[in-house]
Amino acid sequence: MEKTLVLIKPDAFANHYSGDIIKRYESEGFRIVAMKLMRMTEKIAAKHYAEHIGRPYYEGLVEFMTSAPLIAMVLEGENVIARVREINGKTNPAEAAENTIRKLYAENGSRNAVHASDSPESAEREIHIFFNETEIYGE
Ligand code: CDP
Ligand code: MG
Repeated sequence: MEKTLVLIKPDAFANHYSGDIIKRYESEGFRIVAMKLMRMTEKIAAKHYAEHIGRPYYEGLVEFMTSAPLIAMVLEGENVIARVREINGKTNPAEAAENTIRKLYAENGSRNAVHASDSPESAEREIHIFFNETEIYGE
């Protein structure tokens, strides 16, 4: 069964939106197969956001992502990678469609509530930055 990595970023966690966000994923039919509350380190950030190193927003992004706890989880379901990207909406909430998680809960294009893997290759890579095989209860 297809899996994707989702992060409830520090802004959404601090603003108490975690329950609503998790409820949304579950109501869309996805199953949580791994989950933890954690604080991202600079080392984890550099791995997770490797393709963004050197971009003008990178340092601010790492500062934000390491500033406070976040929830990491793995969701499982049919076409979960593409569907969760759709449910999350565009990176900048100002451009995100109505009723997407970013439209509802993001503060701005950096503090934007959630992360989700963008391809099967990204999902495979990102899931294993956050979870060991023994922590994943998938099918
Ligand atoms: O998260 P998503 O895949 O939608 O966007 P991305 O282009 O892969 O960028 C990763 C993350 O970097 C975004 O979710 C934002 O938190 C941050 N970012 C930013 O702070 N400023 C930008 N101009 C672009 C991205
Ligand atoms: Mg991305």
